[in-house]
Amino acid sequence: MDQDNKYFNRYKNFNLIVGFSSAEAIQSLQSFEIRNSDIILATYPKSGTIWTQQIIISICELDGDLTEYPNNMEKMPWLEWQEKREQNSGRPLPRLFTTHLRPDLLPQAVKDKKAKIIYVMRNPKDNIVSYYHFCKIASLLETPKSFGHFLEDYLMGNVASSSWFDHIRAWHSVRNQYSILYLTYEDMIVDLNTAVTKICTFLGKNLSEADIEKVVEKSTFKNMKEDPKANYQFQPESLLKGDFMRKGQIGDWKNYFTVAQSERVDQLLQERLGDLSLKFIWE
Ligand code: A3P
Repeated sequence: MDQDNKYFNRYKNFNLIVGFSSAEAIQSLQSFEIRNSDIILATYPKSGTIWTQQIIISICELDGDLTEYPNNMEKMPWLEWQEKREQNSGRPLPRLFTTHLRPDLLPQAVKDKKAKIIYVMRNPKDNIVSYYHFCKIASLLETPKSFGHFLEDYLMGNVASSSWFDHIRAWHSVRNQYSILYLTYEDMIVDLNTAVTKICTFLGKNLSEADIEKVVEKSTFKNMKEDPKANYQFQPESLLKGDFMRKGQIGDWKNYFTVAQSERVDQLLQERLGDLSLKFIWE
């Protein structure tokens, strides 16, 4: 039986943030019309979502999408946020959406390869540190008592979007079913130009080398941090009392994890996802 609490609406073993999404929002999503041209970015939280939003939006702009929009969140609303999803349902094509949902919570049309999906994952140790900091600044989430407490909650799946391990497995399991491109945060850090080129190819956008370089420039950490449409400082302080664009690096986990905590994550990774042969860059 799914149990709601102060922070989460629980639906099908998935924690939705109270004030952002609900069981009803996911139920109504099942009949939301998905179009062949829709582009959906799927991530576990703190894996590079707003970064990839900026890349996708910039690619579409250079490909001729000149629709006005107030900021990247409005341009690429979360599917699980019913109000925003519906406000944007009639916008010019291609429509862009974001989601932190597991694939089994998305409408059947996505499973029928209607939309194009880009899934971005991040190494779990940096993901944990980023998530820990985010919980300290996001008022809809519980403020962690300490890094150790947060780590426990994360490993138990007691965080928004539930278990990282389940999310990765679920999205990996649909790789041959959906129209999907997998990327990692670390690959984007190491070579952003190649990541942008892969996204263009996947989306069927034929941008010149010069335009790809423009997308890369718009999406660097430094430039995004100063871009009011992209940096999420447009969020009211009542919701976010800090910077979404925090460090943007690989390996910050080393400043937080004890050796024992790090080994525990390694062991869980092996136990829970070892059969998937995933490769992560840790530093
Ligand atoms: P850190 O907290 O490690 O700095 P999400 O968008 O999924 O919530 O992920 C947020 C993380 O992505 C944050 O990580 C943020 O700094 C990082 N990020 C956002 N834009 C970035 C960019 N252009 N380059 C590198 N990292 C970026």
